[in-house]
Amino acid sequence: MFSPSSAIRFILAAYLCCVALSPPGAAQDTPPRAWTDASMAGYRLPLAATGQPPRMISGDRYYALSEYNLKTYPVYAPGREPEGYIEWLKRQDPAPLVDVGSLRTRKDWLAAGREVFYGRELPRFSGSEDNYQLVRDPRVVAAYGLQIGKEGVLLGLRYVVRQKGKIELGTDTCAMCHTQALEDGTVIEGPPNVHTPFGPLMGDLTRRYARISPAFLKERRIDHMREDYRAPFLNPDPGEWILHLPADQIADLYERVPLGVYARTNTSLEWPVKIANLIGVGDMKFFDRTGTARNRDISDLMKYSGSIADVSDALTEYAPGPENQLNLAHMGLGAGIRRTPDAMLYALALYVQSLKPPENPNGETPLTRRGRRIFDQQGCSGCHTPPLYTNNRLTLARGFRPSAKIMQETGAMDVSVGTDPNLALKTRKGTGFYRVPSLRMVWLERAFLHDGSVGSLEELFSDARLRPDFHSSNWPAATPPHAVEGHPFGLSLKPSDREALVAFLKTL
Ligand code: HEC
Ligand code: HEC
Repeated sequence: MFSPSSAIRFILAAYLCCVALSPPGAAQDTPPRAWTDASMAGYRLPLAATGQPPRMISGDRYYALSEYNLKTYPVYAPGREPEGYIEWLKRQDPAPLVDVGSLRTRKDWLAAGREVFYGRELPRFSGSEDNYQLVRDPRVVAAYGLQIGKEGVLLGLRYVVRQKGKIELGTDTCAMCHTQALEDGTVIEGPPNVHTPFGPLMGDLTRRYARISPAFLKERRIDHMREDYRAPFLNPDPGEWILHLPADQIADLYERVPLGVYARTNTSLEWPVKIANLIGVGDMKFFDRTGTARNRDISDLMKYSGSIADVSDALTEYAPGPENQLNLAHMGLGAGIRRTPDAMLYALALYVQSLKPPENPNGETPLTRRGRRIFDQQGCSGCHTPPLYTNNRLTLARGFRPSAKIMQETGAMDVSVGTDPNLALKTRKGTGFYRVPSLRMVWLERAFLHDGSVGSLEELFSDARLRPDFHSSNWPAATPPHAVEGHPFGLSLKPSDREALVAFLKTL
């Protein structure tokens, strides 16, 4: 219990900690340390399969990693590149992405955070000549649905100069997945990219690699897939069978991943996850659809972003024993893992928290007012509680029975909405829980539920999706029809009420 005396101790501890950390006259924005052992405790939720959280590397080991801060440059869509750009790039020396020492005002910090969002390359598969050629081919850019911003810049890709005179294509940045380009080239920062078919794109790469040679396919795809998706705490590992399929069948599985969904590291090719909207993420108590970690203060957002950016997540231990540690060389991290300086993670976190919803074109009408009443009558607001349109709690994945201790520590609801449980039970993101998502900005979404298995709100609230012949509007033609179960709320509404409910949801 949080008693008054513990409150006083807490305030005192917070005061002492800040006095100890901030030198006199420090700027208002002093980055907190992201990776202290004290704040790591309780950050990750236990895995459903083991009842224990995965072990993250200690503060000492984390801060002993060398820092990575390297300037990157825009990649232009074919035909949009300024004259002489590549020659100019060849004359550039390697330089830092952010001049950390120069950040003074809040405006400086936000601008630096934006730079990190657009320009921080994941130092993973260091530049590949084949991919460099691919993005210069207009047919590939069109087929891959890469998003293009106002100045003809490809969002989420950057050139890297590690060595003067040598230009490499970096891996993707935050902007690859967390921006949405509108028809006119306006870019909204934060919402999921619902234009680039990441699954089919990976499927195409898989087929290309296989055509080059079996060894190339193994090095570039199969080895990465094994490390990205293995779940060493489960025996047998549920993803192992996929690695032994012929390349064409692996590509077929990738092609089934709907728009707005990604087979992200720590998930699986079979059970990928919907890309998050980062606007308002500061309000969420748990990160990820499965609530993999807590969001208690800005240092947690720094940890989360740092784990992605540095893949320091690759140092997380999911099961004890050397054979269960991720193979860094197979993840393209053979040269070692570097960390983003705290100041850059802080800038990035401030920037992410500053993102504001774009103007919603769907205003209030008599229909949406009726929809709001239906929303309340159907009991939606018990879970999707205004103003966030989430009660910020976790629900149980179908079949998950956590200990009383875990229920108490997480404050989870003792209820399951019955959606597909595999992401929550059989992957490294598998806490056994699904978070009650916020319904704000659903009008921007193209994929619903944690796996994005439904393509529209109309489909989500139609019982046609419960039938085995269902084929959602956001599935590629090749995906076999199947039922999308769970989340039964609103399914028995009559068509005119469903229309009103959907119209209301689109105003949020
Ligand atoms: C390749 C696509 C991709 C890239 C690149 C990417 N993300 Fe994400 N991001 C995702 C997906 C998919 C999720 C949903 C994960 C889940 O729910 O388990 C996500 C979730 C998140 C979340 C949690 C949001 C929430 O609602 O809980 C944050 C924060 C985040 N990303 C920040 C970042 C930052 C910062 C970067 C750059 C360092 C980044 N992401 C790069 C795909 C991506
Ligand atoms: C018992 C709690 C609960 C109730 C009641 C509930 N929901 Fe949900 N809702 C959830 C959970 C949990 C999810 C996410 C499930 C998943 O990711 O698999 C969800 C997902 C959604 C989504 C998809 C959002 C997204 O980002 O994927 C929408 C839209 C939605 N609910 C609307 C409603 C409406 C409208 C009602 C009332 C008719 C309602 N919900 C009732 C818990 C609830």
